[in-house]
Amino acid sequence: MNTNASSCMETKERDNLVTEIIGRHMNSKGALIPILHEVQGIYGYLPNEVQVKIAKEMNIPISEVFGVITFYSHFSLKPKGRYNISICMGTACYVKGAGPILDRLKETLNIGIGETTEDGEFTLEACRCLGACGLAPVLTVSGQVHGRLTKDDVAGIIDNCKSDDRRIAQ
Ligand code: FES
Repeated sequence: MNTNASSCMETKERDNLVTEIIGRHMNSKGALIPILHEVQGIYGYLPNEVQVKIAKEMNIPISEVFGVITFYSHFSLKPKGRYNISICMGTACYVKGAGPILDRLKETLNIGIGETTEDGEFTLEACRCLGACGLAPVLTVSGQVHGRLTKDDVAGIIDNCKSDDRRIAQ
C-alpha cells in the first residue's frame, strides 16, 4: 500500500519536473535536444509516455521527437542498467583487440550489445571512437574511461562495480 503511494508520488514528481524542464527551454531555439537530455537524466531513458508529453506540450509531431531520439546514440528508448559499459569499436580500439574484450564482456554478463542484465545492473553498448585512441582499447563504465585493456581485465572491471555496490550497501 505504502509502496504504491510512494511510487505514485514519484511519478507525479517526475511529471512536474518534466513540465518545468519543457517550460524552461520552450522558447529557446533548438529546445528539443536540451529538453530530451534533461528528461533522460530524470528517467535514465525516454519512456513513450514522456515522448508524447513533450510532443504535446511543445506542439510538435511525436515523429519529430522520436526522430531526434533515434538519431542521437546518446538518447535511449529502453531503461539502462545501473552501470553502463560502452566498448569502443573505433578503428584504433578494434585493431588493438576490442573484439575479444567485447566477446568476454558478452560471455561474462551473458547479454548482447544493447541489452541489460536481468538484475538491472549492467547495460552493454558498443560505440565509435571516444577520442582516447592513445589508450586503445578503451571502454567506459558509466562515463569513466578504462584504457589499455585486455580481455583479462573484464572480470576485474565488473567485480569493481559489484564491490562498489557492496560498499554502498554497508
Ligand atoms: S578508436 Fe577507440 S578511442 Fe579512438
